[in-house]
Amino acid sequence: MVKFNDFPKEAELRFSEYDKAFRRVLHSGWYILGEEVKKFEGEFSEYLKVKYCIGVGNGLEALQISLMALGIGKGDEVITTPLSAVATTLSIIAAGAKPVFVDANEVAQINADLIEKAITKKTKAVMPVHLYGQPAEIDKIKEICKKHDLFLIEDTAQAHGSICKGKILGTFGDVGCFSFYPTKNLGAFGDAGAIVTNNKKVAKICAEIRDYGQESKYVHLRYGLNSRLDELQATLLRVKLKYLNQDNRKKRKIAKRYIEKLKNIKGLKLILPEKWDDSNFHQFVIKTSKRDELRKYLATKGIPTLIHFPVPIPDQPFLKKDYGKAKIPVCRMLAKSVVSLPCHIMMTQAQVDEVVRAIKKFFEK
Ligand SMILES: Cc1ncc(COP(=O)(O)O)c(C=O)c1O
Repeated sequence: MVKFNDFPKEAELRFSEYDKAFRRVLHSGWYILGEEVKKFEGEFSEYLKVKYCIGVGNGLEALQISLMALGIGKGDEVITTPLSAVATTLSIIAAGAKPVFVDANEVAQINADLIEKAITKKTKAVMPVHLYGQPAEIDKIKEICKKHDLFLIEDTAQAHGSICKGKILGTFGDVGCFSFYPTKNLGAFGDAGAIVTNNKKVAKICAEIRDYGQESKYVHLRYGLNSRLDELQATLLRVKLKYLNQDNRKKRKIAKRYIEKLKNIKGLKLILPEKWDDSNFHQFVIKTSKRDELRKYLATKGIPTLIHFPVPIPDQPFLKKDYGKAKIPVCRMLAKSVVSLPCHIMMTQAQVDEVVRAIKKFFEK
């Protein structure tokens, strides 16, 4: 039997290390924003080669706090992609700004060639998402931001350890925002997130906003949230971070096998970056007009699949009235045709081959 993810088995793999870390925190008597958070922030910034990391409650708030720290809010527009977790757009609305949606390219990333047309006097930032763990056209987007004096906020919630031209994602923009939701390549055992930046002032403001706007005890310099990272998540993330590159390599190996075996099937396309191994393969995604039939067929063979994402964000019920007319034909086509295959670190080669066999059989029918 193939699973989409196998978290109990993954946890078992490093259980004694988690157990030790967990006990250390329980015995410390300090459970929120303490030594473990500080150490994780240091280790994650070292991993990414950035100056500052601020641990926060989740990925949505990492994005929201970044926008707030950059002074983006009411009356401002932020350009983003319609094909993402809804949290990307929610963060913009939560900060008080207006999302402006730009269609995707063929490989499901925001289409950089369409960004300039969407810029108005109110535009303050571009928020691309490195969807599926694959790099968006980040060089081009960075250039556009530079030319128009816009902030670049990378939603790196799915791209821990992915690279683009040798540089790690999350470090191209003014800020990079991470989610450590359990399904991510660096996943916590609950909610967690982080903001990374090389800007000292932005880092200080983010750290204040995550903790009621406090600069020091009972001194509230600004409006803030409660988005504090807790010591248990931080200590467990510290264990997992040590294995992130190894885990990403495992996922790349699975992806490589999928690519080799599925690349020549008529009626099926692989969603891949220019350089396939730049991706951390948070998801392994294929595209077919027979998506729904394929999913049903695979389910009968005991192979689970998921869709990322079945509804473009502007078409969600709560936004449809204001954004339903957005011109996003590629996103709407992708929402109907993409499907994510099982690709997790506990998967065996035999299981990958089982998925491949079933897909081949479906397309031979
Ligand atoms: C692309 C993207 N952005 C933002 C988020 C939000 O992260 P969180 O669920 O930690 O708030 C997610 C997580 O699902 C995501 O995949």
